[in-house]
Amino acid sequence: MAPSMDNPTNGAVETKPTSILHRTPWQPPVAVSAEGSHIRLQDGTNLIDGVGGAAVSCLGNSHPTVMQAIKDQVDKVSYVYNMQLSNEPAEALAKKLVDTSRGAFALCGFASGGSEAMEGVIKLARQYFFETNQPQRTNFIARQLSFHGNTLGTLSLAYHPTRRAPYADILDDKHFHHVSPAYAKRFQKPEETVEQYVERLRQELEDKFIALGPDTVIGFVAETVVGATTGVVPAPKGYFKAMKSVCDKYGALFILDEVMSGMGRMGTLHAWESFGDGVAPDIQAVAKGLGGGYASIGAVLMSQRIADGIRDKSGLWKHGHTYQASFTETGFAHPLACAASLAVQEVIEKENLLENIRVQGDYLRSLLQEGLTGPNSPASPYVFDIRGGGGFWAVEFEFNGVDFQGSSFAMLVQARSLANGLIVMGMVGGANLEGTKGDHLIFAPAYNVTKEEVEKIAEIFVRSVNEILKEYIVQ
Ligand SMILES: Cc1ncc(COP(=O)(O)O)c(C=O)c1O
Repeated sequence: MAPSMDNPTNGAVETKPTSILHRTPWQPPVAVSAEGSHIRLQDGTNLIDGVGGAAVSCLGNSHPTVMQAIKDQVDKVSYVYNMQLSNEPAEALAKKLVDTSRGAFALCGFASGGSEAMEGVIKLARQYFFETNQPQRTNFIARQLSFHGNTLGTLSLAYHPTRRAPYADILDDKHFHHVSPAYAKRFQKPEETVEQYVERLRQELEDKFIALGPDTVIGFVAETVVGATTGVVPAPKGYFKAMKSVCDKYGALFILDEVMSGMGRMGTLHAWESFGDGVAPDIQAVAKGLGGGYASIGAVLMSQRIADGIRDKSGLWKHGHTYQASFTETGFAHPLACAASLAVQEVIEKENLLENIRVQGDYLRSLLQEGLTGPNSPASPYVFDIRGGGGFWAVEFEFNGVDFQGSSFAMLVQARSLANGLIVMGMVGGANLEGTKGDHLIFAPAYNVTKEEVEKIAEIFVRSVNEILKEYIVQ
C-alpha cells in the first residue's frame, strides 16, 4: 500500500484545495493551533511533534514568555532599517551570543534563517581575506553528503546530490570543492582504526589544499553534526582537531555550520562543545535553535581573529538584507525576531532545558533501541544504526532488495507516523555518495519535552515502523 501522492496518510488526514506551490509531492495538512509539542489540524486531528518541525521548535509552540516578549516588542519598535538604526533586542541578543561563547566569538551578525546565515558565512570569510591582503584566497572546501542551505551559493558549497541535481549545471564548481564525509559506520574501512580513518580524512583534506594551492583556500566548512543528509551523524573523535590542524597549517579558516545542530540541540549550546572535540571555529552559523521557530532568524558568529581582521580595515560587514543584517561593534537586526530569540535563549537557560533535553533525549534513544532492536522486534534485522546525542537522534534502516512499490521505507514510515498522530522526518539517500541509497528518520523533540511525551513519540514510531514492515515484508 503505497501512500497517495495527494495525501501521505491515505486519507487519514483531510486536506482542502491549495494555492500554494508546496515543497512536497503531496499536499500537507494545515495546522490551526499548537501548544508545546502538540499541534492541532484543520480537521481536528491532534499530532505530537517528535522533530520540532525540522529541528527548529526547541520550546514547542506558544511558550508564554516568548509570546509576551514578542507582544512587548511590537508595542515598542516593530521595525527599523539596519543601515540607519540599531535596536535594543538585537544589541542584547548579540551581546548574549558573544558572552555565552566562553571567548570563542567576538562579534555576530544576523540573518533571516540558515541559508542566509551560511551565505553570510561564505561572504564574511571571503571579505576577511580580501581585507587582510590575501585576495588570492578564493576556494572553499566542504564535504560530500553535506547540506548548507537551498540558495545557489549554499548548494554549491554543500554536496547533497538530489537537492542540487536540477541546478547542478548552474552551480559554482570553480570555487567550491568537496572531500569525503566523516561517517565512520558507512565509510571507515574494516581494517582501519578510528585514528587511521581520521588520519585518512585529514590527509585527503591536506591533499585537496595542496592540489588547489594552499594559499588559495579560504576555509574548510563542515556541519558539526550532519543533520538532514546522512541523519544525525557525529564525526569520529579527533576529526575536527585534525581538520582544523590542516586549516591552521595553511592559514585558512575553520568554519562550522551549526544551523541544525547548534544552540542546544546536541545538549550543549554549541555542538562543537560536545561533538566537535571542543574546537571552536573561526566562523559559525546558527539558526534553528536560535529562534526556536518563533522568529525567522539566523546568526553568523565570528572569532576575535575575524573581528580584528575586518575591524582593522573597513570595520563593517559588506553584506546585509532589508530584514536582518550586518555588524559593527555588535549585531543589529529585525527587532521582533531578536526579541523572540532573546526570550527563547533566556528560557532555555532559566528553565535548565539543556539538562532536560540531555535526559529526555537519552530516554528516547533507549526506548527506540528497546522497541526496534529488542528480541521480539520485527524491525530488528533492518535497523542499521540508532545514533545521535542530546536531543537529536536518527534511526537508519537498511533493506536489500525490498520493493516498496515506488516509495521508500523512510517516507512510508513518516506518512504512517503522521496518520498515527506523530510528526517525524523521513529522509532518503544518505547511505552512499551518489545519494541513491539509504532510509533514515530523524527525531528532534523540544528541549522541554516531558517523559510522557517521549514515551508517546517512541510508541507511535515503533508501531508505525511495525505496521509498514507488516504490510511490505514481515507476514
Ligand atoms: C546544516 C544546515 N545548514 C543550513 C540549512 C538551511 O537553513 P534554512 O532552511 O533555514 O535556510 C539547514 C536546514 O536544514 C541545515 O540543516
